[in-house]
Amino acid sequence: SRLLLLNGPNLGILGHREPEVYGKATLADIEAAVAQEVKGNGWDVVSVQRESEGELIQAIQSSYDTVGAIVNPGALMIAGWSLRDALANYPRPWIEVHLSNVWAREQFRHESVIAPLASGIVVGLGAYGYELAARALLNLTKD
Ligand code: DQA
Repeated sequence: SRLLLLNGPNLGILGHREPEVYGKATLADIEAAVAQEVKGNGWDVVSVQRESEGELIQAIQSSYDTVGAIVNPGALMIAGWSLRDALANYPRPWIEVHLSNVWAREQFRHESVIAPLASGIVVGLGAYGYELAARALLNLTKD
């Protein structure tokens, strides 16, 4: 089985991007931590990071056979309506993750157009939030 790890714009430069806000972990670190979390269950991680909304949508449309997804939409949380529609048609549970506590930040980060569709949301716990999301997906999908 495969788990989709989907990261939006500006998340490929994690580790170097405003580390005081987003931490020092790189995307590769996060991929490894998530893979570690789910490997006992026989899941592999398919990690996709794209800067553009269209490519994220294509990744979702090509991943209907995954068991679930972890999605950090980056700033597309604010107005990513086509990303939202793509996620609406994703047939499996998925968790929204934000490294930073978006509600402790600027007003424009206080709304997420994808949040109403998520099974759950993890914010403000840094890279560890992705591990928690992976654990939540294991729990959500167990029979
Ligand atoms: C983010 C929060 C967003 O507001 C921001 O645009 C990002 C990263 C986070 O992980 O904290 O790109 O999604």
